[in-house]
Amino acid sequence: MRIRQFDWPDYEAVTAVWAAAAREIVPRAELEAKLTRDPELFLVALDETAVTGVVMGTYDGRRGWILRLAVHPGHRRQGIASELVAELERRFKALGCPRVNLLVMPDNTAGLRFWQELGYLPMPDVLCTKPLL
Ligand SMILES: CC(C)(COP(=O)(O)OP(=O)(O)OC[C@H]1O[C@@H](n2cnc3c(N)ncnc32)[C@H](O)[C@@H]1OP(=O)(O)O)[C@@H](O)C(=O)NCCC(=O)NCCS
Repeated sequence: MRIRQFDWPDYEAVTAVWAAAAREIVPRAELEAKLTRDPELFLVALDETAVTGVVMGTYDGRRGWILRLAVHPGHRRQGIASELVAELERRFKALGCPRVNLLVMPDNTAGLRFWQELGYLPMPDVLCTKPLL
């Protein structure tokens, strides 16, 4: 397995992993905007032939966020997500990022287990959101 920064030829394979993992797909336009800021935080995991996992990090200068982590169902429990997050954490640290947050749906028991295994602990905050466009 190897991990590297996302490149546009990966897009279809990345959307296939998100779809197979029932995760929302980031549209091209949104991704283009994200990649103008911190492209080194959008990572893919690959085996010899295919993209097996993906994770997107963002850093606003104060906090890091981890988004859209997914591993293809045929490649789970092989440590791929753990390695993606470890590499992302290394990159956050290199940017001087002191803390990382993420959101998990409350019914995603496997996701919560995974994150707690890596030391990410639940907080009582409630997510509030408002569309601007
Ligand atoms: C959650 C997810 C990313 C884990 O990917 P993965 O590559 O299988 O994870 P890893 O192999 O690195 O797992 C590391 C550890 O996390 C825990 N873990 C991972 N998946 C688990 C599951 N389904 N049930 C319980 N614990 C789990 C285990 O402790 C595991 O170690 P072990 O295999 O030695 O027991 C993957 O299941 C997935 O894509 N799920 C759908 C999308 C999602 O829920 N994303 C994350 C939520 S934001």
